[in-house]
Amino acid sequence: MRNRVVLAYSGGLDTSVSIRWIQEKYDMDVITLTIDLGQGRELEEIKHKAVTIGAIKAIVYDAKEMFVNHYVFPALQGGAIYEGEYPLATALGRPLIAGLLVDIARDEGAAAVAHGCTGKGNDQVRIDVAVKILAPRLQVIAPVREWRMTRDEEIKYAMANDIPIPVTQAKPYSVDQNLWGRSIEAGVLEDPAVEPPEDVYEWTVAPDRAPAAPQYVDIRFESGIPVALDGAEMEGVELIERLNQIAGQHGVGRIDHVENRLVGIKSREIYEAPAATVLHKAHQALEDLTLSKQQARFKTTVSREYADLIYNGLWFTSLHQDLRAFIASNQMHVTGTIRMKLWKGNCFVVGRTSPKSLYSFALATYDSGDQFDHNASVGFITVHGLAAQTQAQAQLIGPAAAAKELPVVVPPRVDRDALEVESADEGDDA
Ligand code: ARG
Repeated sequence: MRNRVVLAYSGGLDTSVSIRWIQEKYDMDVITLTIDLGQGRELEEIKHKAVTIGAIKAIVYDAKEMFVNHYVFPALQGGAIYEGEYPLATALGRPLIAGLLVDIARDEGAAAVAHGCTGKGNDQVRIDVAVKILAPRLQVIAPVREWRMTRDEEIKYAMANDIPIPVTQAKPYSVDQNLWGRSIEAGVLEDPAVEPPEDVYEWTVAPDRAPAAPQYVDIRFESGIPVALDGAEMEGVELIERLNQIAGQHGVGRIDHVENRLVGIKSREIYEAPAATVLHKAHQALEDLTLSKQQARFKTTVSREYADLIYNGLWFTSLHQDLRAFIASNQMHVTGTIRMKLWKGNCFVVGRTSPKSLYSFALATYDSGDQFDHNASVGFITVHGLAAQTQAQAQLIGPAAAAKELPVVVPPRVDRDALEVESADEGDDA
């Protein structure tokens, strides 16, 4: 029996060419695995195409629910937004794909898994690292990284090998999409000075052409997980799909980000993430209401670590396990309903309620119901300001401190004239 490889198959040109290329170059049987993460593609067709091209078996798997419950919602609870901009749709899909490749490879007795990532992106790292962690003995084949064909050469190869080339006039962009968002790069987007043309967007209308009337959405969370829209309870997949629809109609969720890739490149990426944008903002608003100041402060540190970990392909790690334990505890009381107002590309938080709210009207009000002890402030201020006051008198106020120049953190240069040098051959001429 020939060795087998399980290839993550999207149905596009790269992975279609990969089927034949792996058979030739590695002399292996190819099993394709097409994973549905809500890309909205015709999966039956893709399955059929794989077998037509030469796969010995083509598998399709609907992983939408797994994606939402095990990857997307934990990231939402964790407030994971890379560099404050990118809600990580593509990055969250990769460990799932790697996990399923490994799982199917075991079932099929495969010696290798394969994917269509290039050699300069983050995705190769995410998949390769995850496979190394989960199944160190599995070989990972990345044809696109290895073959170094240009797109034209790929098309020639496809034509020579009877591989169907997508007939639809492909847009000049590289797109990756799933339920949590669309990632679009390449083409004119590679010039960060250029405004993205309207044709990069598919999920969002241009904010200036969005409806004049705002739309309100009530989102209910339980322990940091969204469970209902406008009072109607629903599963995560449906909730995200609906919210993508609703917020997209109002032009919400367009993100234009120059990001720091793991491999050292700055790249300009456009994202469309209507549901992710609204949910992160609503979730944050609910945390404002239900977390203590110290919990919230520490959570921002955890959120940044978590976003970096996801972006950098370190999903299946002990650090992740540790962070998850913190997040689970931290999210325990993040329960309540947030009212969002969607309007012309914006989403505003306009209402918050929670059975676990830490907001106290009696403490906050300036009206007659006020229960805050104003006199207690005087003693508090004395103690709170004590150290600062002491230091200011001893160090800041004096003329000596005022005259001192501030230190500058630059290594001082050597004064060449002051060098005292003796060379070995000097005074040797006698
Ligand atoms: N920059 C994003 C990331 O590393 C998306 C990568 C895939 N994007 C694409 N257009 N193919 O997660």
